[in-house]
Amino acid sequence: MRNFNHKDLLGMGQLSVQDIELILDTAESLKEISTRDIKKVPTLRGKSVVNFFNEPSTRTRASFETAAKRLSADIFSLAVSGSSIVKGETLVDTGRNLQAMDPDLIVLRHSSSGAPLLLARNLRAGIINAGDGINEHPTQALLDLFTIREKKGKIDGMNVVIIGDIAHSRVARSNIIGLTRMGANVTVSGPATMIPLFIEDFGVQVVYDPVEAVKEKDVIMLLRIQLERQSKILFPGSREYASFFGLTRKIMQGAKNDVIVMHPGPINRGVEITSEVADSSYSVILDQVSNGVAVRMAILYLLIGGGQR
Ligand code: CP
Repeated sequence: MRNFNHKDLLGMGQLSVQDIELILDTAESLKEISTRDIKKVPTLRGKSVVNFFNEPSTRTRASFETAAKRLSADIFSLAVSGSSIVKGETLVDTGRNLQAMDPDLIVLRHSSSGAPLLLARNLRAGIINAGDGINEHPTQALLDLFTIREKKGKIDGMNVVIIGDIAHSRVARSNIIGLTRMGANVTVSGPATMIPLFIEDFGVQVVYDPVEAVKEKDVIMLLRIQLERQSKILFPGSREYASFFGLTRKIMQGAKNDVIVMHPGPINRGVEITSEVADSSYSVILDQVSNGVAVRMAILYLLIGGGQR
């Protein structure tokens, strides 16, 4: 019996190798449910989940909603823009009012780093971090790990390059923690203004030139250029970014023949990735989205469905 002894999922740093393997193994067994005619099991009947998002989201929000419904949990979604936060209520007071309705879990996406931790410290309900500021996006990293394991058979020893705005990306941070913990060799690449100083202390290699960075890689992971989180002081414009760092078939030539291309979405076609690459057989971008449902089902199940397997 393997136990998952966590009230909340706030970041990859809290997860041991055994925790990550348990999540991935559980997701693997739950994935089959989504292929059935009737895509629903009663596992979480009577449990309730709140999806609380104060930033736009397509994948994460829909994925949690789908995952909860496939496990028969009750779920409702609340956008901060439609909540009483716009009338001046604090995040913690809003959380306490949601708590008064006895949800088992609150899934929070917030523009402020640390907001999920704040709620976790103040509420009995479990908190899942669905992306907080530039801090972490653990469920994205877990679905990325799942996808790498599914496509490559293992994570340990895989050569992975992450290209883009490493400094402002919660996806990069969560993936660096998760990938290195699971034994992958991680390289980061991008404009020097987007690579944090001393990032090597996290066990990654820095190669600024993307042509060099993709050489002999098993996995190329791209990041969206986050136009809403940084100004043009980091690079002159998206056309310059595309011409130096955008992934084209030509840049990919140095990678392994069976390389996979990943992107958390939403993609900026013609900026960090060409349509030719995004729509090619190397791309597993939509597989990541499908796997996101299975991984989030596993996380819901392990947090509130008994916590053991
Ligand atoms: N990958 C991801 O977090 O996408 P959304 O912003 O659409 O949820």
